[in-house]
Amino acid sequence: MQSANMKFAIDDGSTNVKISWIEKGLVRSVTSPNSFRKDWKSAALLSDRKVFNYQIGATKYTYDATSDKALSTTHVAFQYDDLNLLSVHHALLQTGVQPGPVSILVTLPITEYYKADDCQKNEENIARKKANLMRDISLNKGELFEIVDVEVLPESLPAVLTTLMDSGVNEFTKSLVIDCGGTTLDMGVIVGEFDDVSAVYGNAEIGVSMVTNAARKALAAADSDASYLVANELIKRRQDRNFVNEVINDLSKVDWVLERIEDKISELGAAVAYEAKTFTRNPNRIYLVGGGAMLIETAIRAAYPTLGDKIVLVQEPQEALSREICCYHAAEPAEAV
Ligand SMILES: Nc1ncnc2c1ncn2[C@@H]1O[C@H](COP(=O)(O)OP(=O)(O)OP(=O)(O)O)[C@@H](O)[C@H]1O
Ligand SMILES: [Mg+2]
Repeated sequence: MQSANMKFAIDDGSTNVKISWIEKGLVRSVTSPNSFRKDWKSAALLSDRKVFNYQIGATKYTYDATSDKALSTTHVAFQYDDLNLLSVHHALLQTGVQPGPVSILVTLPITEYYKADDCQKNEENIARKKANLMRDISLNKGELFEIVDVEVLPESLPAVLTTLMDSGVNEFTKSLVIDCGGTTLDMGVIVGEFDDVSAVYGNAEIGVSMVTNAARKALAAADSDASYLVANELIKRRQDRNFVNEVINDLSKVDWVLERIEDKISELGAAVAYEAKTFTRNPNRIYLVGGGAMLIETAIRAAYPTLGDKIVLVQEPQEALSREICCYHAAEPAEAV
């Protein structure tokens, strides 16, 4: 008899992979940013920095957090290509768990997972994603996890599983889940406690990257060119004056940069609220998830004033999906064979 494989729940988003697993009875989560470029890196100058040089088929890739040449992962094809395979393996290595055979649960954007016309599962896309993640990949001077089983779940919606169960909804309650990610806005309507998914929506034009790009532009104008990562950190910590002054070189432009960021956050909120209203006019509840959830909360509350506390910003919204999938699916040990 063989012991059961370890299970990881992985929300492999276009900008960040969120990975959750159970260790000593507790749910642990790590967020691993996607930033890969072609070719390999030479050994790090500082010996404690690990270099991740990968190879898939004949193509060499490396993890490079600050590279301007980082390959774009913000398109739908990402779900089925080399970069997705890389990002999942790289995230597994960030858990600190000893590499070995693993079963993984991954996600597909709702509009890929469900067919738009009838909300039925798109088995073809699901099979394609599974096959992609079972492909061979190698790590130079290192060991990788061996993915032996892949299960695919829809993005966004499962993030509210526990929240919905505990909230006393009836079988007619319509819950709107709004997932504001790095590059896409995804929405879905759940009927009851998950009795049915009645509509799905995806928009690759609306996401936090709108704010990130505006922040980078403003930073450049203040003599402070910054990577995607630094710009995102500034957006998160915009109220932390010490951090802000550290990032912005031209101190006379600090307030101006912060205003540009606030303006773009308002624009993002307005765009999301408009799309939400058009998608479903009168939901009974609204749940906000994804890394951008906090940025759009005010706009959504203003757009649906009568819902009050039925609008819920899910705790730790960026990791909510991988955490919930972990609690629901990864907790059960894989069957021993
Ligand atoms: N507290 C926060 N405040 C502001 N922005 C945040 C916060 N937490 C995360 N973000 C931003 O959210 C974005 C990532 O969100 P998320 O991980 O949900 O995206 P993703 O799943 O990779 O993208 P997508 O769902 O579009 O494929 C990043 O730009 C990140 O900087
Ligand atoms: Mg996402």
